[in-house]
Amino acid sequence: MQKRKLTTILSIDTSCDETSASVTENLKVLSNVIASQVDLHRKWGGVVPTIAKRAHEENIDATVKEALTRSRKSFADLDAVAVTHGPGLAIALEIGIKKAKEICKTHHKPLIPVNHMEGHLLSPLATNSKGTGNDLSLQKGSFPILGFLVSGGHTEIVVVSAIGKYQKIGETIDDAAGEAFDKFAKMLNLGYPGGEIVERLALKGNQKAYTLPRPMANIDNLNYSFSGLKTAALYLIQKLQTTSPNLNKPEICDLCASFQEAVIDSLMIKLRKALNLKNPHYLFCGGGVISNLSLRRQIRHEARLAKIPVFFPRNDRLTTDNAAMIGIAAYFKFQRKEFLLKNFNKLDRQPNLSF
Ligand code: KG4
Ligand code: ZN
Repeated sequence: MQKRKLTTILSIDTSCDETSASVTENLKVLSNVIASQVDLHRKWGGVVPTIAKRAHEENIDATVKEALTRSRKSFADLDAVAVTHGPGLAIALEIGIKKAKEICKTHHKPLIPVNHMEGHLLSPLATNSKGTGNDLSLQKGSFPILGFLVSGGHTEIVVVSAIGKYQKIGETIDDAAGEAFDKFAKMLNLGYPGGEIVERLALKGNQKAYTLPRPMANIDNLNYSFSGLKTAALYLIQKLQTTSPNLNKPEICDLCASFQEAVIDSLMIKLRKALNLKNPHYLFCGGGVISNLSLRRQIRHEARLAKIPVFFPRNDRLTTDNAAMIGIAAYFKFQRKEFLLKNFNKLDRQPNLSF
């Protein structure tokens, strides 16, 4: 029997503050190089677009080269090049798109534009270079799948009726959950990015120490809002500081635990509603905030109640922004022949691209 040819794709993501390039072979991640800019943005307490753009420009060539070297592939081995065209920071997206077009023109390869959020959504399907990953093979009966995407820029619930067929059924109307963690950490001068720091401090705190709101909990839709929670946290911190301007460590840990619990609780209320409403066969989770272990524990609990399997990306490098997840989405797009063979200039950045 003739062996089916594997699809080798070089993918690039420069949507925010990581310059990333990856080589995938079908769903196998052969390399996933991430040049993080966190150190450059830290002193500003958030991503500065012009700094991000310059860092992408400086890092892109070396990142692509390293991704090819680590995968032991050359440009000649590639079936296609994929790139994130949105959503993200316009001037950051532009750098990855320019590079991908350049490679496609020089090496005569098809160009696959990928929605960054589709990358997060399909990230649980990525395996390591030996093919080890989540134990699932998608068939017609696997659908619908519910996608739960929680990152620094987005909080979304998506119904997947087939790979490539998506319907967003819930999203945040203001801040994303990751953004709320980052802003909360900034209020307490804890550092950037905030999610991981808040999670660590929350481990030593009491989640019942302070009462914080669960915005939108009683509103009968699947949308989120985190800006009211952020304001409530700010008022609470200011109130505590009137008695002692420098909060002590136990107070900070209690604040982190209470805030984290409020975010997770808010996330779970709508996730539970969506699971009941849509009766999916699987739950897929993706995005940076999904690294949070308390969140994962509660998601697993909800999936158990709904009696369905839940899948997370197999490691943290697939959870936060990376190009390997773009390669996974691109693999399916390549099969569906959703690529550009020429007229690469038609592809433009789409900062507000949505499902
Ligand atoms: O997916 P991602 O890398 O970037 C976007 O596409 O936005 O997510 C980054 C976000 C940041 O807001 C960061 O604070 C948050 O994910 N994050 C976490 C944790 N690790 C990263 N939030 C809560 N707990 C964590 N352990
Ligand atoms: Zn992302």
